[in-house]
Amino acid sequence: MSDKALGGFGGLAHVNLDGEYAAATARQLDLIERRKRHFAGSFLFYQDPVELVRGEGAHLYDSDYRRYIDFYNNVPVVGHANPRVVRAMTEQAAKLNTHTRYLHENVIRLAETVASTLPGKLDVCLFTCTGTEAAELAMRIARVVTGQRGIIVMENSYHGNSKLVGEMSTATYAPSDRPPHIEAVAAPNTYRGVFRGDREDESLSQDYADLMDPALERLQANGEGVAAFVCDSIFDSQGALDAPPGYFKRVYEKVRAAGGLCVADEVQAGVGRTGTYWGFEHHDVVPDIVFTGKPFGNGHPVAAVFTTREIADRWAQSDIYFNTFGGNPVSAAAAQAVFDVLREDNLLEHVKELSHYLFQRLETLQQKHSVIGRIQGRGLFVGVDLVKDRDSREPASELARRLPDLMKQQGVLIGLSGPLGNVLKFRPPLVVTREDVDRALAVFDDVLSRQAS
Ligand SMILES: Cc1ncc(COP(=O)(O)O)c(C=O)c1O
Repeated sequence: MSDKALGGFGGLAHVNLDGEYAAATARQLDLIERRKRHFAGSFLFYQDPVELVRGEGAHLYDSDYRRYIDFYNNVPVVGHANPRVVRAMTEQAAKLNTHTRYLHENVIRLAETVASTLPGKLDVCLFTCTGTEAAELAMRIARVVTGQRGIIVMENSYHGNSKLVGEMSTATYAPSDRPPHIEAVAAPNTYRGVFRGDREDESLSQDYADLMDPALERLQANGEGVAAFVCDSIFDSQGALDAPPGYFKRVYEKVRAAGGLCVADEVQAGVGRTGTYWGFEHHDVVPDIVFTGKPFGNGHPVAAVFTTREIADRWAQSDIYFNTFGGNPVSAAAAQAVFDVLREDNLLEHVKELSHYLFQRLETLQQKHSVIGRIQGRGLFVGVDLVKDRDSREPASELARRLPDLMKQQGVLIGLSGPLGNVLKFRPPLVVTREDVDRALAVFDDVLSRQAS
């Protein structure tokens, strides 16, 4: 894949793009060859890719029965192969699987459950299979309801892979190819963004929010208007950020004043990841539309859009939606089980506790390793911004690129993020334990010490 194809997707910097698998075993090479024969444009993580055969909780096992701590995967929120999710799915699959044009208790119960976790009047649900479909549907609704076409996203964003949602994914193509209905603003990165610092007042969030003004003006001037502002609440592809206090409030005011809807992409931040059900809850705002995906079914492809009755009814006057697989009884059983486990196992509290522990442990490591510039993010979605020098904040991208492979060799899986590819992404299943955190950070410490010596 060329640099152009990668766009600003620094988070992909640790994939093997040149196809040389120096340390791969004969079995891995065979699988790679067979994959290549039948796959197009696909790539693998790591210089010598891992063949995973089993998962349990926050652990993964490869074909040699080597165990890894999964410090990367956000999808299996309630743990790999969670027995309650598996049981719910298999029991339903053994009875019946159809679509949402027949009455079925599962999907109705799921809608009721999720609506009870959402604030305001967000109690209307539309079910899809993937985050991309959910994003696309959210945009269909926003465009119909507002009568406008423009969409404002973040620079270096990722929201999915269809034509429109691909255009909203500014990390995946060059700014010169951006269509007139898409505008992008800089993410509020207070460590290495256009405005920096930790001013006590909310002037920093005002500065970042004001970046919306020229974007809104351009959309008004070119006749597109603004249908929606869409933002991933944890800024996954921008390095896992926690927006400064007041940022979303100010942005939402500007978007609504221009007649647009505010849309929270909760594919990464939602379903408990940040210690609340939804990431936007930390920012004291209520979006007009919310969509989720990935963790919603713990690995089963089920996703959803949530909005208000008023918006849904206005949209439904002129549009119709059907998705053969979205919200089918098996998918609904999977998502229901995820929410049941979150509640019954008190996982939101667990996330808050473990997050506090993880941040504390990382701060101790920061005192030892000057390469750790800033620790950012929220809940169990943590970014570690690596620098060559703390004063200049020059990104340590080359070192960051090597770390996922080095940590994998010691049994810990992590990822990369950020437009510069210098942010390590620690994002384990929510059932991760203190012992897992200790082990993962001992490996991190060891790998950093070796790099420094
Ligand atoms: C923030 C965000 N939104 C949307 C999507 C798209 O989800 P899917 O891959 O299920 O289409 C992704 C996928 O990586 C994502 O990270």
